[in-house]
Amino acid sequence: MSHLSDITCIEDLRQLAQRRVPRMFYDYVDTGSYTEATYRANEADLQRIRLRQRVAVDLSERSTRSTMVGQSVAMPVALAPTGLTGMQHADGEILAARAAQAFGVPFTLSTMSICSIEDVAAHTGRYPFWFQLYVMRDRDFVARLIDRAKAAGCSALQLTLDLQLQGQRHKDIKNGLSVPVRPTLANLLNLASKPRWCRAMLGTPRRSFGNIMGHVQGVEDLSSLGAWTAAQFDPTLNWNDVEWIKRRWGGKLILKGIMDAEDARLAVATGADALIVSNHGGRQLDGAPSTIEALPAIVQAVGQQTEVWMDGGIRSGQDVLKALALGARGTLIGRSFLYGLGAGGQAGVTRALEIIQKELDTTMAFCGRTDIRTVDASVLWPGSYPQPLAESGGLD
Ligand code: GLV
Repeated sequence: MSHLSDITCIEDLRQLAQRRVPRMFYDYVDTGSYTEATYRANEADLQRIRLRQRVAVDLSERSTRSTMVGQSVAMPVALAPTGLTGMQHADGEILAARAAQAFGVPFTLSTMSICSIEDVAAHTGRYPFWFQLYVMRDRDFVARLIDRAKAAGCSALQLTLDLQLQGQRHKDIKNGLSVPVRPTLANLLNLASKPRWCRAMLGTPRRSFGNIMGHVQGVEDLSSLGAWTAAQFDPTLNWNDVEWIKRRWGGKLILKGIMDAEDARLAVATGADALIVSNHGGRQLDGAPSTIEALPAIVQAVGQQTEVWMDGGIRSGQDVLKALALGARGTLIGRSFLYGLGAGGQAGVTRALEIIQKELDTTMAFCGRTDIRTVDASVLWPGSYPQPLAESGGLD
């Protein structure tokens, strides 16, 4: 598999990305924390769910269109905020945002992006992408980030709640992950085998954390930046901070990292417009259930009051359909689009979105449905999918 034209599935994109992206950045994506049990469970639990085949239904008119926080989307799949996206491919955030814009789905820019908020806005015209916020100890900086996202026209803010401390990812330590790459012999040898990546990277000025450099006093060079970010995530973050952020932002607020029905109720009490059932792609609490296992109890607890979305393990349109069937109003993909980006820049992200939409449309049709908004648990094979905890005799 060496060209985008040969690509038929997300796994093909992953393999091509693995060949084209320097090892430390590829590994940063294809990694979970500690034993990676939760990382693997996200995919495996989706795979186990069975779908009901239905026949002799008029399938001539079909639609995957839906809405996410009131915004029209070509399919209920948004690009998740991912750190260091501009290290998968030069100008990665701009390229991914453009692909999402052309496709008609939301793109979320991470606080820990390489391209800055202003840069993405300047290269996507009036596209109202979303911004993801990490809460730092320096609250002036956080306030300025919120204001910058507002000024750039971002139409929703995703507040990530599950990464005030970082789960350990063994590969990042072993690879000596750093931005920029340290010129060790091993790194230089690895870079020498990635000529496309190097050429593109040499052609862009965007090689550091664009939202931070130049916006924080005392961070003038990259060595101080590394220390700053490691020390900056604020472990005191609590629900009162969410109120403050909501007031300062004043627009649509999405809370990310909810895995528990009780937290879901607290999230709803803040007035959040949506919440994301997320275990951070299995990169934080190793031992947490998969997101598809956690989803039904959260939908049962708050699904009538707010939009419940889900990320984690989605590598196909079939996976999207299963999440929607279990009550998610929307989904997010991280690795699936990053593999496309690493494999082929903007065209690779577009390919990832095309693959997922085609799979979603066809799978929905095989289940006898023609409108994605009508999909519910009746498309699932009885006994093959997770139930809310309370119904199965668990705790809540
Ligand atoms: C940051 O979001 C990470 O998972 O590394």
